[in-house]
Amino acid sequence: NKAASALYRFPLVDVQGIPLSNRIAQNWSSTWAFCADPSDVLISTYPKAGTTWTQEIVDLLLHNGDAEICRRAPTAVRIPFLEINSLPPIPSGLDLLKKMKPPRFIKTHLPIQLVPEGFWENKCKVIYVARNAKDNLVSYYHFDRMNLTQPEPGPWEEYVQKFMKGKLAWGSWYDHVKGYWKEKEKRNILYLFYEDMKENPHREIVRIMLYLDLSLSDDIIDKIVELTSFKVMKDNPMANYSFIPKAVFDPSVSTFMRKGEVGDWTNYFTPAQSQMFDEDYARQMADVDVPFRTLI
Ligand code: A3P
Repeated sequence: NKAASALYRFPLVDVQGIPLSNRIAQNWSSTWAFCADPSDVLISTYPKAGTTWTQEIVDLLLHNGDAEICRRAPTAVRIPFLEINSLPPIPSGLDLLKKMKPPRFIKTHLPIQLVPEGFWENKCKVIYVARNAKDNLVSYYHFDRMNLTQPEPGPWEEYVQKFMKGKLAWGSWYDHVKGYWKEKEKRNILYLFYEDMKENPHREIVRIMLYLDLSLSDDIIDKIVELTSFKVMKDNPMANYSFIPKAVFDPSVSTFMRKGEVGDWTNYFTPAQSQMFDEDYARQMADVDVPFRTLI
């Protein structure tokens, strides 16, 4: 995999104070100029907060729980990733979106201040999913180990520091979750938590349904709960990212559908690391009370 690492592992560069992959940065003016339609819906997350899960739920809600229709293409084609460059065989987010008619469902990891202004001017719906910092960090660590388009994560201890300092791709987790939280009423953002989705997926799927002005029966919601369980999605080739070439997502290191649990952080943080992290967390989150749970 040495050759692949040399080809990929794109470095991060600063875009308006946010570290983004240099490929995203090269394309930044086109991304920023994206014309949203009022009917477009944005699904926004910090990386590894449950984006793919939410995308699958939304697609099934839009198609009345029809599993076959929702296997028409990989997640990244059904719900394009706004700022991402082409990753063969998938075209860039902007190229896919150009060919789609509104209403389009669009994924992004951009912090709120970098979301193209058209989304706000057109009062687009935005579904935001947040995951507790420690599990989010653990998930991102494994992802950065296996995804050769991301910078090398380095050793665990250093990775924790980079997360705390906001030095990972898409920047600070703390600023990301707070940025959307502060604006959620004013901009009509549906703010969801990964932990709530794990605890009671039926309840959270109904919240998404109502936000999208859809009306599905309880039986269909139950079916969507089943179809979007970790176990079922892990085996669904159109939802588990198995189409990404092995030279890009190295399955010998980790898989995209890794564990899907709340509290896996307890297997990684030592008690001392956990205490140090919590003290820093209290400082970084002091100005806004976002009700995260690290265990359920
Ligand atoms: P883990 O690495 O903790 O397993 P994203 O889609 O934002 O990249 O997030 C990926 C994380 O969500 C991974 O977490 C992945 O396993 C988890 N995930 C994906 N589908 C899920 C599902 N249906 N239920 C629970 N977790 C899911």
